[in-house]
Amino acid sequence: MISIANACAMSYQTILLCRRAFVNLVSVHRIGAEARLDSARWMDRDVVVKQRVVKGYRHPTLDRSLQSFRIKNEAKLMIEARKVGIPVPIIYSLDFEGNKIVMEEVPGMRVKDALQDPSVDGDGVCRRIGEIAGKLHANDIVHGDLTTSNMLLDGDRIVLIDFSLGQKSSELEDKGVDMHLLEEAFHSAHHSRSELYAIVKDAYAGTYAGGLDVLKKVKEIEKRGRYTRKE
Ligand SMILES: Nc1ncnc2c1ncn2[C@@H]1O[C@H](COP(=O)(O)OP(=O)(O)OP(=O)(O)O)[C@@H](O)[C@H]1O
Ligand SMILES: [Mg+2]
Repeated sequence: MISIANACAMSYQTILLCRRAFVNLVSVHRIGAEARLDSARWMDRDVVVKQRVVKGYRHPTLDRSLQSFRIKNEAKLMIEARKVGIPVPIIYSLDFEGNKIVMEEVPGMRVKDALQDPSVDGDGVCRRIGEIAGKLHANDIVHGDLTTSNMLLDGDRIVLIDFSLGQKSSELEDKGVDMHLLEEAFHSAHHSRSELYAIVKDAYAGTYAGGLDVLKKVKEIEKRGRYTRKE
């Protein structure tokens, strides 16, 4: 067993060597459609263990390779993101046989819930969302599920999680799809504070030089969606 104090300092190849982590499970954090999250203690730290759930309806070989791809993909992108200064949980240990990531438990709440609270500084939160999205895309990291459910608010910092559907890409289309999803999810989760999305867009374009082109692409993707829905 090789443990990782700070995964970003290690290369992906090194991390591939890691095997089982000794973890004391404390409680189930959440069981989702594709992943199970447990709160646990690991080396005297509060951690979250994310484990991919086996899906009975998929062929076992396909399921194994998909789960294995997703967990490695998630770990790889978290490490890439951290390297370029995007706040993500610290990875402590990886178990690629059990499809598990042991990571820092980020205190605080989901940004989705925080933005429902009128006492939270919505402008500040949205500016940080835009800056994080801009930094991701400036470094050709596409998140794949960029919603306020996949952001945690810890004091003043926003921590990005759930990179399992992400990829490295410099394509305008991929970045546009990311921003389109963020906008749709934002308007549906925060319809009473929809006007705040303008702040996200401003901060995004202010952080990422190619941001305005991506936002133009988003308009094109929206039009395409409307056209397809009509048919
Ligand atoms: N490092 C963490 N610290 C604290 N809470 C976390 C952490 N990671 C995940 N969570 C909590 O667990 C929830 C689900 O996590 P996550 O978004 O990674 O999984 P998922 O959406 O079920 O998985 P996937 O989309 O990969 O199938 C988050 O919304 C958050 O509330
Ligand atoms: Mg999620």
